[in-house]
Amino acid sequence: MSPRLQPALHAVWWDSDAVGYIDQRRLPLELIRARASGVDEVVSAIASLAVRGAPAIGIFAAYGVALARAQHTDDDGFRGAAARIRSARPTAVNLAWAVDRMMAAPEGAHLDVAREIHAEQRAIDRAIALTGAELLPAEGSIITHCNTGPLATGAGGTALGIVIEAHRAGKRLHLYVDETRPLLQGARLTMVEAERAGIPATLIVDGAAAATIERKGIACAIVGADRIATNGDTANKIGTLGLALAAAHHRIPFYVAAPRSTIDFALRSGEEIPIEERSAGEVRAFGGVPTAPTQSDVYNPAFDVTPGRLIAGIVTEYGVVRPPYTDGLPDLASRPSGAFALRASA
Ligand code: MRU
Repeated sequence: MSPRLQPALHAVWWDSDAVGYIDQRRLPLELIRARASGVDEVVSAIASLAVRGAPAIGIFAAYGVALARAQHTDDDGFRGAAARIRSARPTAVNLAWAVDRMMAAPEGAHLDVAREIHAEQRAIDRAIALTGAELLPAEGSIITHCNTGPLATGAGGTALGIVIEAHRAGKRLHLYVDETRPLLQGARLTMVEAERAGIPATLIVDGAAAATIERKGIACAIVGADRIATNGDTANKIGTLGLALAAAHHRIPFYVAAPRSTIDFALRSGEEIPIEERSAGEVRAFGGVPTAPTQSDVYNPAFDVTPGRLIAGIVTEYGVVRPPYTDGLPDLASRPSGAFALRASA
């Protein structure tokens, strides 16, 4: 390992009687390690994006439910607390998935199950990284959107985990990173994680993605997901759809990487995915500095839905699912989530 490389940042952890997390709002200026010692703080950390990224939210919520169990002796209070955590954000299905799994945990086993969910994610991310790295060229430029590395999964990362693994395996890749307005997860987080992993990376504004594909000879695009319907329609950070359309126009493959826990087997299409709309303030200003007239009308959806027909493959811990997704994705419903990966890595 070159001396300039730094270990991945741990997004979330159990901290004695609280849930520890990196406050991702403060990166890259400050690396703040914080503690959520009650349910209010857990909900607020998720809603404010101090902890963000679909799998990381799920793990953090799982620890939050373990915390709620320890703090509520009455079942009604516990169930109410868990319901509040479950609804802290609407789009990433990993949040509801993790809370539901925690609610099915035997009495006294909540912290063990939260730890299990976290450990499984490490094994899942490893499986996704190894499989997905095969899809990337031996040499060339690729593009990504938002942040899908260790900060986003509490483990090794999904789409960025694939890029990290391919780089580690000797592929000579150059990563173009969309800044990801309005909260700049690409600029603030992916650029940090790429640098720590020693991956050559170039930051672009979101509006430059199509021109970058055209002018920089991009070989493929790879992103993560917040919720995938059974027809392959994929909700991910706002701007993903534009990147997928640009990739289709330039006839380069557009890949999605996500664990099975991000697939919503109850949904037939992306039209059913709830899309979070966030405050106007996120667009009218950044870091307290106005970026528009203070009363500007604003539309601020946090996610968009990329149709499955624009996606060349979905990398999961069970391998790459290819179109038609209505065949391959529902098949995964009968496979155990996470437990497979834990066994596989044992
Ligand atoms: O609003 P965010 O930052 O939680 O959105 C995150 C994304 O859209 C990620 O791409 C997605 O959660 C996948 S993380 C592996």
